[in-house]
Amino acid sequence: MTVLFCRNCGQDKQPVPADGDYSAEIMWIGESPGFREVESGKPFVGPAGKVFSRILVKLDIPRSSCYVTNVVKCRFTEDGRNRTPTPQEVDKCMPWLRAELAFSAARLVITLGETASRAVAFPKKDIAVVRGRLRTDGKRLFGATYHPAAVLRDPEMEDVIVEDVRNFVEVLRGWKL
Ligand code: URA
Repeated sequence: MTVLFCRNCGQDKQPVPADGDYSAEIMWIGESPGFREVESGKPFVGPAGKVFSRILVKLDIPRSSCYVTNVVKCRFTEDGRNRTPTPQEVDKCMPWLRAELAFSAARLVITLGETASRAVAFPKKDIAVVRGRLRTDGKRLFGATYHPAAVLRDPEMEDVIVEDVRNFVEVLRGWKL
């Protein structure tokens, strides 16, 4: 199930499909692709993607063992710059993410930033309130942390994300269902 063509939101855009396979133990969910992602057809390859890759290295998690996706599959812009998708745009795109979650064997889903956290982990909550928190639906763990793009504005955020994810993985390792 790969999104190659979609008109759910009524806009003529180029979707960026997820990277990785459904057997991955960890699923990462970002917000939406940026310019570089649309250009390459792969999530998290631009400036925020470089931060994401560095975080994976620090945590000793190979990207090849991850499933990486976004809440919305297309880039939304305002005056040529990336913008956060509206709640209506998120709703229209959610069937894709719901299907990905249904197919995925991931035991840990890590949401990056508020849009992803609200979509699947902690609805209606601000990311500053829920970051570092985990919840479970009985089948898998959902952990929320900041978006790697936050590191581009505040380099100290990188350690916060690394520590949040380190904790999520530790809980996952000790988690028996
Ligand atoms: N930011 C995201 O949320 N996703 C990407 O794929 C790239 C940047």
